[in-house]
Amino acid sequence: MNNKRSTIFTAIAYANAKPHIGHAYEYVLADSIVRYRKLIGDVTFFCTGMDEHGQKIFNKAATEGKSAQELVDEIGDIFKNLDKELQVDYDRFIKTTDSDHKKIVQDLWMKMYERGDIFEKEYSGNYCVGCESYKTKTELDTDGNCLIHLNKAEILKGKNWFFRLSKYENQLREKIESDEINIVPKNFKTEILSFIDQGLEDISFSRPKEVLTWGVEVPNDPTHVMYVWCDALANYFSAAVGKDKKFWDETKMLNVIGKDILRFHALYWPAMLMSAGEKLPQNILVHGMILSNGHKMSKTLGNVIDPMDIINLYNEKLSANSILGEKIGGEFFRYFFLKNISPFLDGDFTFERAKELYNADLANGIGNLISRVLRLSEKYLEKKENFEQEYFPKEYIEALENFDVKTAFEKVFELVSKADEYMQSNEPFKVIKVDEMKGKEMLENLRNQIYLIGRLLNPFMPETNKLIKEIIKENKMPEKPLFPRYE
Ligand code: MSP
Repeated sequence: MNNKRSTIFTAIAYANAKPHIGHAYEYVLADSIVRYRKLIGDVTFFCTGMDEHGQKIFNKAATEGKSAQELVDEIGDIFKNLDKELQVDYDRFIKTTDSDHKKIVQDLWMKMYERGDIFEKEYSGNYCVGCESYKTKTELDTDGNCLIHLNKAEILKGKNWFFRLSKYENQLREKIESDEINIVPKNFKTEILSFIDQGLEDISFSRPKEVLTWGVEVPNDPTHVMYVWCDALANYFSAAVGKDKKFWDETKMLNVIGKDILRFHALYWPAMLMSAGEKLPQNILVHGMILSNGHKMSKTLGNVIDPMDIINLYNEKLSANSILGEKIGGEFFRYFFLKNISPFLDGDFTFERAKELYNADLANGIGNLISRVLRLSEKYLEKKENFEQEYFPKEYIEALENFDVKTAFEKVFELVSKADEYMQSNEPFKVIKVDEMKGKEMLENLRNQIYLIGRLLNPFMPETNKLIKEIIKENKMPEKPLFPRYE
């Protein structure tokens, strides 16, 4: 056990729409890493939240006839509720409209300004509201549409405040090459290095209030608001510093983000921090995109999956017959996304596959093993309170140290298969009738194994972890199974 600090952040989602399974995936992925860090003794600070300013949100509120604040508060509550259902146990849910955040981002701005890295310039460029960023020619099609959002980029002109990103080009290259800024997996390191090689341009960092009022005011120019990404990226700093500056300065830091926003996290944000004289992020875990039935989720295709639909379905079908009760939906969600999708690749969700995997791994796999062992131990073994707490398999630790949650989770299922095989080949239920001592030893062995399995589930399925440990200590078959079959 150590006594280190760990600071973990998810991206903050745009508060213009309710969450989809891609967002939910990021939250459970980050939460599993936080729980692992706690398990090995770290003191953690885990932050998630909402990106509430900018054109996109302002436009959405206007079309709904609401104030921007009303819209972001409503959406924020929906995200918070999702976190609760998924047991995403954050320490702070930051909103970029929080007053402490606004003050801190203004202070950061002034530091960059005083450094000479923020300056005024006349500019004209193609802006995609969906991306909340200017687009180069290669990022637009021949009709001037953004290649990601497929809508026309607006031409924005005028005097703006700019951030001198170009000044940090060499330092960024060095820090990424040397892994001082450690980008995982490495293919994204290569991608960002080749992006740097094309040359980094300074970035427009403000919008005139005549065009957009919904943002944090530029402290040295009340006629402008900050560019939404400047405001949004600073959330990490505000949240950590709001807790204790040690959670920024003396900590192992991790940003969990999707591959579409790597450039902002690997280039803009570290450059802003260098300019302000603050410590840089150390680790950036870049996860893939979650697809719906093999396709990118989009409103036009109508295939966006609301994570609550999955959680509610599993609760409806199974909660009445499971000791997990209403927690089964969230536990299943975590199982599906953490065990079956690699953080390093794109992943896919379909309701059919979800059901197959539920029955195979949870109902027949873990659930069945635990019932079989418990039925025997209840009959033949004494109750026991003290089980091994300190041991973690080497490969499990190695995988989690590398953020490879899927591989670590698979190790737990290897233990399930091994225990099943042990049961089948040794038949303790027969042995015990002819050689009681030997049979009991075998059962004790199995009981220790299922306790270990329960313990190792902690980062992935926290409620299942708790219940398995409890029922084994009780040494009594519970009234209902953990995972009834999904018919
Ligand atoms: N507001 C910005 C992030 C600012 S962080 C300082 C943003 N918001 S977002 O709502 O579009 O995305 C939030 C997170 O969800 C990002 O990490 C993004 O990559 C991730 N995902 C969005 N769609 C996703 C999938 N389909 N699959 C997996 N993750 C996805 O970007």
